Amino acid sequence: MKKHNIAILYGGRSGEHDVSLLSASSVEKHLNKEKYNISLIGITLNGVWYYQENYINNSDCLEIIEDDSNIVSLIPGRGLMVKGIILPIDFIFPILHGTYGEDGTMQGLLEIVGIPFAGSGMDGSYLAMDKEVAKIIWDREGLPIVPFIGIKKHDYLKNPNDIKSRSQDKFGYPVFIKPVKAGSSVGVSRVESQDEFFAALDKAFKYDTKVLIEPAVNAREIECSVVGNYNLETFALGEIAPSHKFYDYDAKYIDPNGAKLIIPAVIDDSIATEMKRLAKSAYLALNLKGFSRVDFFLDKESNKIMINEINTIPGFTNISMFSMLCAHNGLGYSELLDRIFELGIERYQEVLSMDFSH
Ligand SMILES: Nc1ncnc2c1ncn2[C@@H]1O[C@H](COP(=O)(O)OP(=O)(O)OP(=O)(O)O)[C@@H](O)[C@H]1O
Ligand SMILES: [Mg+2]
Repeated sequence: MKKHNIAILYGGRSGEHDVSLLSASSVEKHLNKEKYNISLIGITLNGVWYYQENYINNSDCLEIIEDDSNIVSLIPGRGLMVKGIILPIDFIFPILHGTYGEDGTMQGLLEIVGIPFAGSGMDGSYLAMDKEVAKIIWDREGLPIVPFIGIKKHDYLKNPNDIKSRSQDKFGYPVFIKPVKAGSSVGVSRVESQDEFFAALDKAFKYDTKVLIEPAVNAREIECSVVGNYNLETFALGEIAPSHKFYDYDAKYIDPNGAKLIIPAVIDDSIATEMKRLAKSAYLALNLKGFSRVDFFLDKESNKIMINEINTIPGFTNISMFSMLCAHNGLGYSELLDRIFELGIERYQEVLSMDFSH
């Protein structure tokens, strides 16, 4: 059988660079070496791409060796070039989280270069990354979300008191304030009273020029893995039970006891069935492809389901929620990667079959 030549892109320019080093190490280890030849390309925090010649992956975390003779250049329509030679690459796994990895920019770039890749295209990646646009689309489709006010930095600076009154009149306190496009809870605050309001907005605007204000919901956090392009598969649901005030950056990555992952989540069958249906609808509404993790709130009192967000490249280690939910229902990590590869090829064939020239 002919082996496929796969490149893993990892690292990247976002605040989630270090998470990517872990995710990509796991992906490399679990890709079936009988089916794939693997190349690694590390992207530094400054955005330089380095081909990793004779790499070693024997810890949980990949390194990026910055050898200037192995800098990668991109040749549109041709591929990736190192030392004047195009690398033989049939497929790319962009295992990058956040800005410049998961937000559509990388996907657009790879589309221009002309190499098929894993996951959603430029459009879906952007729509899922922009929490405000995603919510507008879901709301229009009649899918349940937490209400929100979207604020642009320019408007906030012009009239901060007006924003504060609008938020107070609509939601009171507590509210959540978060950047529209950051991830990993960076810049997210729970605001208990008006004294904290401006500090939280200033913090969120450090990371984005658009910010969301939402009422704080008293809810369980339930996650659902989705795999597929059109015929979607869902799996057991998982619950995140943070031990912090909310699922903040420390609870996610620093405090080892920051959150419990409960698989499967203990919820009524009827609610689970409805969540899986909503997960598929939310995924299709944003034109997502390949795989994603859909995150829900489940109101502790009313059991109302609300879609919070979708991560198109969720944390991807073998102990991340995304892969563990798939594995719980029998789709092991290596088979999951095979599936994502096939779905990426299928998506690319569909793109190639379009006639753009008329
Ligand atoms: N309206 C809300 N009510 C209650 N808790 C919230 C609300 N919005 C956010 N949170 C809490 O803050 C956490 C982070 O918010 P959110 O999921 O919106 O962004 P993010 O996690 O930074 O994005 P990503 O998952 O892409 O990294 C949530 O997991 C939840 O614990
Ligand atoms: Mg989140």
